[in-house]
Parts: sequence; structure tokens; C-alpha cells
Amino acid sequence: MKRTSLIFILFLLEVLPSKAQLAPSIIPAPMQLQMDTGYFLIDKQVSLHLPAGAEELKPTVNFFIHAMQEVSGLQLPINKPATRQIALVMDKNLNLKEEGYQLIVTPGKITIHASSKAGVLYAFQSLLQTLPQVRTNAALRVPCMRINDEPRFAWRGMHLDVSRHFFSPAVVKNYIDLMAMYKMNTFHWHLVDDQGWRIEIKKYPKLTGIGAWRVDQTNLVWGSRPQAKPGEDPSYGGYYTQDQIKDIVAYAAQRNITVVPEIEMPGHVASAIAGYPELSCTGEFQLPLTGGNYTNMSSNYCAGKDAVFNFLQDVLTEVMNIFPSTYIHIGGDEVDKAPWKKCALCQARIKKEGLKNEDELQSYFMKRIEKFIISKKRKMIGWDEILEGGLAPEAAVMSWRGEAGGIEAAKMNHYVVMTPGNPCYFDHYQAGPEGEPLAIGGFNTLKKVYDYEPIPKELNATNRKYVLGAQGNVWTEFITTAEHLEYMVLPRMLALAETVWSPAANKNWDDFNRRIQYHFRAFDQKGLHYSPGNYTVDIRPESKEGKLTVSLSTEIPAARIYYTTDGSLPNASATLYERPIPVNNSILLKAVTIQNGKLMNLRPAEQAFTAHKAFGSTVTYEKMPSKYYPANGPNSLTDGIRGKAAAGKFWHGFNGNDLVATVDMGTVKEISTILLGCFQNYGDWIFFPSSVSFETSEDGKQFIAAGTVKTDISPETRGGMVKDFKVKLPVTKARFVRVTAKVIEACPPGHPGAGKPAWLFADEIVVE
Ligand code: ACM
Ligand code: ZN
Repeated sequence: MKRTSLIFILFLLEVLPSKAQLAPSIIPAPMQLQMDTGYFLIDKQVSLHLPAGAEELKPTVNFFIHAMQEVSGLQLPINKPATRQIALVMDKNLNLKEEGYQLIVTPGKITIHASSKAGVLYAFQSLLQTLPQVRTNAALRVPCMRINDEPRFAWRGMHLDVSRHFFSPAVVKNYIDLMAMYKMNTFHWHLVDDQGWRIEIKKYPKLTGIGAWRVDQTNLVWGSRPQAKPGEDPSYGGYYTQDQIKDIVAYAAQRNITVVPEIEMPGHVASAIAGYPELSCTGEFQLPLTGGNYTNMSSNYCAGKDAVFNFLQDVLTEVMNIFPSTYIHIGGDEVDKAPWKKCALCQARIKKEGLKNEDELQSYFMKRIEKFIISKKRKMIGWDEILEGGLAPEAAVMSWRGEAGGIEAAKMNHYVVMTPGNPCYFDHYQAGPEGEPLAIGGFNTLKKVYDYEPIPKELNATNRKYVLGAQGNVWTEFITTAEHLEYMVLPRMLALAETVWSPAANKNWDDFNRRIQYHFRAFDQKGLHYSPGNYTVDIRPESKEGKLTVSLSTEIPAARIYYTTDGSLPNASATLYERPIPVNNSILLKAVTIQNGKLMNLRPAEQAFTAHKAFGSTVTYEKMPSKYYPANGPNSLTDGIRGKAAAGKFWHGFNGNDLVATVDMGTVKEISTILLGCFQNYGDWIFFPSSVSFETSEDGKQFIAAGTVKTDISPETRGGMVKDFKVKLPVTKARFVRVTAKVIEACPPGHPGAGKPAWLFADEIVVE
């Protein structure tokens, strides 16, 4: 070789990056990660090097040694002469948040810098995610790289309801292990609810003696379980002894997880009342609830009895003795205040304290409890209902009914944790719902969780710092086994972990999907149950200039969509979806996702489109529908999709105002019927309009009345139902159709929302 070319090659080696190594699949993505060339080999020549006096690191180090032994079969020696080292450096001046760490991998050494036990643990967790998660025969190589990492938020929470279904201490520990793997640090343990009291309170043994046990109806769907009858065997249940809880709290602490206990009050406590009936307003005896059937049961503590507060102080004293967490969660959600309205003692309290109403009575309740919690040097947190009637002076708020409560509290300089039902409720569907296990409802997909931004736009720079973080909530009305629990949490918790840990600017859905494959493999190898992600095909109509098209999508970037329009079952020989599909007549569209030749849906997504003369026409509204029920914009009223008898995505909702919509069919047509499809559901505050009027016009200026239809169904009628408000007219020439649907004045007397604005729901204006 000529000398010049050798120099040239050496030059190239210097300046060109050698083949870049693929970044490891660490979830949550580190704040900064820089790949280098080469790798650190894990073999018998490696020793773990610990700094002197690192006694407090022992459990963390033992965790790592144990994990390494699982995947490598090697027991890493500590501080022994060795060719290569994994060295731990404790550095109080590290320029990272307390839970942060630095991980530097070179061929000869892995160095971990951290200022705390938590940082060391998280460095270990990241390191473990560069290796296989189970024992294989492959050489164990950690790619050379440099990581600087710290969490974005301090509260990285997962909640678990153990009242609706009881989960053993072993299952709870597995849950904690999963949380720790993904750097989640707060376990919100929902220990008390109507259907079971799960924490031993030594002073009140009947809380668990009676309140933890119910008649076993696990074979029935939650809402259809009959109430217990006297004499039936209360054989379902369980509770945690204080010793078991101390053990779990310590187990969690070793994994940098704070356990925040939730002791519900003043509502959702039928289980406590089953043990101690004198705590309710009526004092009447009741059997523990078996499921979602509340008829004639007391669910609240009486806010008028001082004995209730003495009882709760005793309970909280025992709770605080076994839970060292700063925050104590006192629930506060969904209190049905009707029993307080009827109770002489509650009313006497309202009078004596100068309170305006029952909302203020709840506020009084919470403030009195907060005072006690603060006296014990702890802080109170509760669901966002604790804002109603006035927030306790130092309380933190957990925002679950959307983000409004969190925004309001943060603006008042109170700390908040964001757990909006959409997308933070992991008891909701994550795909399907066809082919998914029965869930309480909702549709919180992996991508929705991934895309969640915990800091609402409404908060300014000052208020933002009150957002402690976010949390995934797992209510267990429909989750009865450990396997099902894993399935609901995996993989959504991984998406949430990245949301609460990684800098917002680093989030990348495609890259997350690449990295998650490693975790899916690990779940398979470990026998963990998980959803493979949301392959459900989303069918989205869109009309432009009077033409309707349908676009199909799935959340999984690598998947391909195949569809049919004749109702037959699609497979890989059906039409591959490439661009929006024009729809000109009635079709039944079915679509599936196929990845690597494998059909990913148990059942196809499907949607019928019914053509009519206004199909695809432009609609203008006088007042837009609620932002919560936008369907696909105004043209949803002419997309040929009829809504189902459930408040879902194809309905337009109007809260307290009329629907006034004008349809432009583009050209003058001969028409003879017009209808508006509507929905009513008493329980959801949705009622048929009192009347619907129709008008037609050729020029869009002069409208001629075409008839009015009044509802023939009382707003008092229970259950979900759909109705077409339809007029027949003599054959008429029209280009424009105007529909005015009058919302009823208010929710009817006797309804929980009596006197408050009612909802009006509509799905389609059909013109023939
Ligand atoms: C809640 O979901 N009731 C807090
Ligand atoms: Zn009372």
C-alpha cells in the first residue's frame, strides 16, 4: 500500500464515526445519551467497586448483584482485584437532581456517579436494560456510552385499588418491582372503599373483621352483583396486617418507592359502616357491598358526629405509624351528599359552623382532617372534589376529572398530581374494545398515554412548578386476577414512565416503539401478561367540498392496514390501505392490522356508512358542540355514521344550548324527508331535545318551515336510547337544510343534576 493511502485511511478512521451502535432500549429514555464505539464485556474478570462506608447502599447493591446473577449466572465480587470494574462513585456535588445519575461505559470500566441511593438504583436499572432480561448463552456486552440522567417530575405514580378486588402481598410486591424497573417512585395504595376495608386497624378490629369480607360474586360483572342477603357466607376478601404493610413499605423503600396510603373519606366507606354502623348518618346496620349496587346503602360518614372525627384520628394515627410518606391521601371523591341533607346532625353542623351548604360541609370535613394530619407533620392530598366548598389550606390535589381541578389548584399555589381519566386511567380499554377483556369503559391507548403532557397549557411559569407529576390509576372493579392486572398496566405504565421521567423534547413515539420491542420480549420471557399495543384500526371520515373520504390509521408505525368494503373479513389478500378511501355509496368497511405477516386483531374494526342526499355535505353550526364531544367536526352530522346507544365518539354533545345546524348539499336537490338522530341517557345527563324544527332553502337566505317534531319520551325515562326526529314533506327543491333542536331547560327534578344544564346529543342529519 502506498504511504499516502495509508495516511488517508488513518485520517478517515480519525474523523469518520465508526459504525454507530444502536442506542439500547432504555425506558424511560435518559435525559442525555451518547453512544461510543466498543463495549464492556461482563464475564468473570469483572468486579464491583464500592466506595468505603457505603453501608446504606447495601440493599441496592444486593438487588443489582442478584439481577446480574439472574441474567449472567455470575456472582459479581465486591472490591476484588479484577481486570475490569463496575465502579460506584458517590458524589454529593453531582450536578443532577437527587434521583439522577451518570453512567459511563468504556471497554475497561463502567463508572456510575450518583449523589443518592436512588441515583445508584436508577443507574443499575438502566444498565440492566442494556442486557437480556433473562439468562441466555449470549455474551453479555454493555455498549460503550455516556448517560446523564435525571427525572423530569418528582411524583411518578402508580395507583392500585385493592378494595374492589384484593391482591395478595406477593402481587403487590410484583407491582412494586415493575414500577421500580421503569423508575416510577410513588405507589398510591387505595386501601379503603365501599367494597372492602383492607388495612388492619388495631383499635377497630371490625373494620377488617367485617369490612374486609363480602359475599363472593366474582363470577358476576361488577354492576350486576346482587346485594348480600343476611346469612350468606362473606367468603371473598382479605386485608393486610400492619406487619405485612410494614414489610411492603420497606420493600418499596429499597426500590426508591414511597407508598402513599389512601384512607377514603367521607364517602366510599360502606365497608367501614358495615363494621361500625354508628359512623353513618342513619346508624343503620348494613352488610358489606358485593359490587357496584348501592341502592339504599350508607356510603358516607356522618359529618355531624364528633365521634366520626375521633375515629378517623385514631385510624390515621395508626396509618401514619406504619406509612412514613409525607403525603396521606384522604380520598374525598364522589361524595353523594343526599344523606347529609336529610341528617339532623349534619344540618346542625352546617348551622353551627356557618356553612352555606353540603359542599362546604365536605370542605369543613377535609379541613378538620387536614389540621390533624398537619399536626403530625404530614401533608394531605385528595381527589379534586376537595376543591368544592373550599380547599383545605395546605392540601395537594389529585386531578382526575380531567385537568380542571389540577389547573385551579395550581393557580391557587397548591401542589397537584395529574391523573386525568383520559388518559391516566389504566382500567380503561387500551385497544379494541373488540377482543379485549371487559373493562369499565374509556379508550386510553398506549399512544394517548405516551402523548400525555402533565403540565397544562393554562399554567404560567410560576404555577407550573406546582405540578408534582402524573400518575396511572388502576381501579379494579373489572380486574380480578394478577394476570389481568399486569395486562392493564403493561405496557401503558412504560409510556407514562417516559412521560414523567424523560424531557418532553426527547419524546419520540417511533423510537419508543423501537425500544418497547425489547421490553415485550422480556415480558414474554418472564411470562408477564401485556397488551401488544393498540393495533385497532381507527376509522376516520372526513368530508371536503361535499365529498366524503375515510382515512384508516393505527398507532403502530410498522403495521400495515388491509380493508374490505363489502362486509367480508379482511386479511393480507384484501386491499392494502395507502390513501384515504372515497365513499360514494353505502358500505360496510372492515379493517385489520397486519405486522410481519401476522393478523394483529382478534376482530376487525368496522363501520357502516349509510349514504343519503346530504352525505358528505358541509355543515355550519351556530354554536359549536362541546369540546368534549367534537366527533370529527361539524361534518360528522353528514358522514353517514349513525351513533350507537352509548355516549361515544360519533355523537356531538351540546351542554345547555340548542343545536342549530345548516347543511349545504352543494346543489339544489329534490327532498322529501329530513331527520335528526338523537340520544338520551338519564344516568349521563343526556336528554332528547324537547323539539326539533326543520327548514329548507334553495338560496341559503330564505328558509321555509318544513315541520317540527316534539319528543314523545319523558326525560325521566331511564337507560340509553336513540331516536330519529323525522319529518316528511311534499317533494321540495332545496340546497340548504336548517335543523334547530331545543335542549330541555335543565335536568329534571329528582335527577342528580336537577336544575343544572342538560346535554343534547346528535349524530346525523339524514336527508332523502
Ligand atoms: C375516582 O376515580 N373516583 C377518583
Ligand atoms: Zn349526618
